[in-house]
Amino acid sequence: MSLDSKQLLSIAQEFGTPVYVYDGDEIVKRYNELYEFITWPKLKIHYAMKANYNFRALKALNKARSGIDAVSPGDVMLALKAGFTPDRIIYTANNVTDEEVRQVKSTGVLMNIGSLSRLEKFGKEFPGSEVCIRFNPDVVDGSHAKIMTGGDLTKFGVLLKDVDKVKAIAEKYDLKVVGLHEHTGSGLQHTESVFKSMENLMAIATPENFPELRFLDFGGGFKVPYEPGEHRVDYIEMGTEITRLFTEYCKKYGRELEMYFEPGKYIVAESGYLLVEVNTIKDNNGRYIVGCNSGFPQLIRPMFYDAYHHIVNLSNPHGKKASYDVCGNICETGDRFAEQRELPEIREGDILSLENAGAYCYAMGGHYNLRPMPPEVFVINGKPELARRGLTAEELVNLITGESK
Ligand code: LLP
Repeated sequence: MSLDSKQLLSIAQEFGTPVYVYDGDEIVKRYNELYEFITWPKLKIHYAMKANYNFRALKALNKARSGIDAVSPGDVMLALKAGFTPDRIIYTANNVTDEEVRQVKSTGVLMNIGSLSRLEKFGKEFPGSEVCIRFNPDVVDGSHAKIMTGGDLTKFGVLLKDVDKVKAIAEKYDLKVVGLHEHTGSGLQHTESVFKSMENLMAIATPENFPELRFLDFGGGFKVPYEPGEHRVDYIEMGTEITRLFTEYCKKYGRELEMYFEPGKYIVAESGYLLVEVNTIKDNNGRYIVGCNSGFPQLIRPMFYDAYHHIVNLSNPHGKKASYDVCGNICETGDRFAEQRELPEIREGDILSLENAGAYCYAMGGHYNLRPMPPEVFVINGKPELARRGLTAEELVNLITGESK
């Protein structure tokens, strides 16, 4: 982990708990690293901002010249505010409304369209436009069934076999297909899936089918280790193969196209921590139940995907080990960050750090039980700054009643 226990404890003391902490230097490092793995000179990384839309993180990535994968008008608005120019943003939303399409189109951001019916409507309203088409890569992978995006069971993308239908609609409305896209899933378990999806997309991305291509976008999904001892994918090896496959493809296509990837997790997951404080300990006939001052609406991944988040007892690292259920403060039995987790003795008042909390943690948060989301602290050059304050319970209530000014 990139921030040490001493730093985290002092942040907990200064800003209170619960609190989200991000290491900004780690985020930029992870982003830059991708260019070392994949050496194709026309590589462009579009950060999937759904993973973490912290404004400081976005600004840091904009400064590093990243692009953005946006999934809603709100995403686009925020990315523009962070300084991303429309030419560096791709809009890959699904099941969109006409109104939403108009709103995003008017910003000049490129639309990535993943259904024949939307393509038809888009063509009718905006003939002659540039467009990107999202295909379903027909490869099934991901760290949980809920986040696999390829294959017949998902709602995403146009089936590869419908490529002629895409061409017909594009021709009818004089649409210029400048990019093709696929995304296989999040937390891809096998590097072969990345290669297979690339090959499936490249097979239809011929100059005969799509003569005006500028780029192919192979989505995100790069896995990061969450559990101690879990191996880190050899990204140098994977990147080398990606570059090789794409070089071969471009030779056949007849031009050097741009290659896009749009990772979220890889860039931000490991930068984040949720610091919580223990306030209750129960001994249920030998089963230790720990209660802390946060809960699943503030970090839902364990409850939602059975995801593992490593926990460190910052304030008692050398305590005698025992097994604990680490629970939150929400009125549901499943409100657990960890079950029967071996940890150094936990005492009331201890500060626990939930690690790898940079991706899809704050971003998936909510106010269930009317507990406001925690503040977010952003550490840059080793210096912590408040990036976003939390609402007070009163402010939250005023939003609900309409009394907020
Ligand atoms: N591109 C598209 C079209 C996507 O749908 C996604 C993620 C990404 C890129 C970025 O994937 P990543 O590199 O972050 O794996 N909430 C889940 C993950 C949901 C991913 C949704 N789409 C989780 O907490 O594991």
